[in-house]
Amino acid sequence: MTGMVNNEGGVWVKTIGVLTSGGDAPGMNAAIRAVVRSGIYNKLKIMGIKQGYKGLIEGNIEEMNLSSVADIIHRGGTILRTARSEEFMTEAGRKKALNVLKIFGIDGVIVIGGDGSFRGAEKLSEDGIMTIGIPGTIDNDLGYTDYSIGFDTTVNTVLDAISKIRDTTTSHGRANIIEVMGRHCGDIALYAGLGGGAESIIVPEEEFNVDDVCRKLIQGRNRGKLHSIILLAENIINAYNLSEEIEEKTDIATRVTILGHIQRGGSPSAFDRILASRMGARAVELLLQGKSSRVVGVKGNEINDMPISQALSETKDFNKNMYELTKILSI
Ligand code: F6P
Repeated sequence: MTGMVNNEGGVWVKTIGVLTSGGDAPGMNAAIRAVVRSGIYNKLKIMGIKQGYKGLIEGNIEEMNLSSVADIIHRGGTILRTARSEEFMTEAGRKKALNVLKIFGIDGVIVIGGDGSFRGAEKLSEDGIMTIGIPGTIDNDLGYTDYSIGFDTTVNTVLDAISKIRDTTTSHGRANIIEVMGRHCGDIALYAGLGGGAESIIVPEEEFNVDDVCRKLIQGRNRGKLHSIILLAENIINAYNLSEEIEEKTDIATRVTILGHIQRGGSPSAFDRILASRMGARAVELLLQGKSSRVVGVKGNEINDMPISQALSETKDFNKNMYELTKILSI
């Protein structure tokens, strides 16, 4: 660890860097704002590292002040921009990054991102840089925290899409497969499916059978139902092939909507802004206490923190009860 030891046994950090890495998520700006404002409040110098670890290697770094983060709490995306850096995964890339941190006098780095970004932070801490991770990903795929920043906004975006698609689906008496993101986690499909009243939810955590989906569609049609929404998490089955199979087996016209990157944009929800503000402030607090290689999370409504290694080893629990409930409520 760099920095001088203070009288409480912690470490004096004077200059901290903040970066966003991996896929962006609504609420990242609110987290950056919280880091910058609470850092300055605590007399720290804050450096904004642009484009994640890529910008760190390239020295794309600028000092931030109170007004650097004015008017951003409600904005989607990330003012620091983001990237997925292959180079940082290599020893040589990290060596460059360490040199840059030394040149800019940065003692600690706050990394806002997902599991890949946290692995990068862990590596930096092994090389003597104090690091704290803040979960920012729409996927909600981190096992150690109930929620990551961005997930709630994305679920709301999907709900809005479901409502619109349902209108036209009803008018035509069709089915519609809506494919959502999540990488290998079914939370977006699960939460939006329950909140949006989907007839079927297909997630990576649960086996699925096309005939079960078809039976539901046929039963629905037989009792006069005019629409069916099938919420499909990405990376399971090709949505267009699924729609063909459903049409063949049910004779119900089935359309496909792949929501794509619309799910990553937009103004963050109240939940995400508040979560990001609380997590950003806690990350700064941890550095001030001399803590490193930790991540911030939320359990219940309490902000907590734990070692990065422990957080990454926690497997994500799929909420089976919620999944069963979606089935009961869509009979
Ligand atoms: O991790 C966030 C995420 O949006 C995933 O849900 C999705 O699989 C992936 O990123 C898409 O990545 P990209 O923006 O690089 O296409």
